[in-house]
Amino acid sequence: MAKDFYGELQLGILGGGQLGRMLIQEAINYNVNVHILDPDKNAPCRKLCNRFECGSLSDFETVYNFGKDLDMITIEIEKVNVDALEKLENEGVLVYPQSRIIRLIQDKGLQKQFFKQNDIPTAPFQLISTKENLYETSIPLPYIQKLRKDGYDGKGVKKINSTSEIEQAFEEPSLVEALVDFEKEIAVIVARNDKGEIATFPLVEMEFNPEANLVEFLIAPSTLPFEVQTQADEIAKKIAEDLQIVGLLAVEMFLTKEGEILVNELAPRPHNSGHHTIEGNITSQFAQHLRAIFNLPLGATTTRSNAVMINLLGEPRYEGLAKYEGVEEVLAIEGIFVHLYGKKYTKPFRKMGHVCIVNDDRELAIKNARWVQETLKVKA
Ligand SMILES: Nc1ncnc2c1ncn2[C@@H]1O[C@H](COP(=O)(O)OP(=O)(O)O)[C@@H](O)[C@H]1O
Ligand SMILES: [Mg+2]
Repeated sequence: MAKDFYGELQLGILGGGQLGRMLIQEAINYNVNVHILDPDKNAPCRKLCNRFECGSLSDFETVYNFGKDLDMITIEIEKVNVDALEKLENEGVLVYPQSRIIRLIQDKGLQKQFFKQNDIPTAPFQLISTKENLYETSIPLPYIQKLRKDGYDGKGVKKINSTSEIEQAFEEPSLVEALVDFEKEIAVIVARNDKGEIATFPLVEMEFNPEANLVEFLIAPSTLPFEVQTQADEIAKKIAEDLQIVGLLAVEMFLTKEGEILVNELAPRPHNSGHHTIEGNITSQFAQHLRAIFNLPLGATTTRSNAVMINLLGEPRYEGLAKYEGVEEVLAIEGIFVHLYGKKYTKPFRKMGHVCIVNDDRELAIKNARWVQETLKVKA
């Protein structure tokens, strides 16, 4: 694949959002030509790539035609036409992560079955085809109902507290999952290249904003017991191995109150829970993804510093052309890094950027992050 490192290499990315944007920042270092497909003509990547194509990610012809003259395709979103990717793969285009893995991960039902078949610890579940099935499920109330397909950022997830709430449940094919009384949500990002080398990033701990149902505060490295960290690391490595994935894989997990680790879900791409690696680790998740798909040696994932990542979400009640408040104030403080995603319009809780706060003193990093949260605002 050494195409004159890599001046001639044509890399396609399905999706032109912030993840694509941060991948482009790294791809420049490898001298790669980046092609982006995204349905939004104002997508964050539109002006930063060699070729931007505005088109549907779920349309077979569009994805196939976008990819047929490229050397390699990767994704920054799972909701893409996998049949087109499979055809491209069969015709010799390198597709990483492989189409079969995207197909598996697109469906939370298949994901859960994969966990079960491979002895990967996960919460008990049952697949259902209509909400009527909820009346007969053996999973005790309260439970979680999840759409098998197309959920993201908590949008396909519902907690059902009692039988009377089944009326408001999702109609579509979904899964019922036991409610996990978790202590913490944690994640490990793992990378695997085609030589079979595997590398994990240190465990991160997440805090969710219950109102927005989004991860808004994340801290690494974790201070959880060593055994928890090792176990999470081993689970992530096993999944990468079982899947034989090429590329990055984010493994979202729950740490239960009893200290047990349960895998929640997978994302076969750079992930929100890895943004802190840009400043916090020797190799960032974006650089690692490219190393993995280019079959290069994987980079060291060692922590440089305590890092807290906060998502910069659109302020509630503001909708329209985005305006930023407090950027200068926060940049005046050492160890604060602002990443704006270049989205023209803000709306409540839209991910408009993120901030990474690094500090050798963990408590100070957290304190600075809380201050950034109060100071930096996206309004309209
Ligand atoms: N079984 C569960 N028990 C308790 N909380 C859950 C469960 N499943 C999901 N959640 C909560 O909902 C969030 C979103 O669920 P997830 O399956 O990760 O969907 P999404 O694809 O939207 O990220 C999780 O991060 C977690 O906070
Ligand atoms: Mg999730």
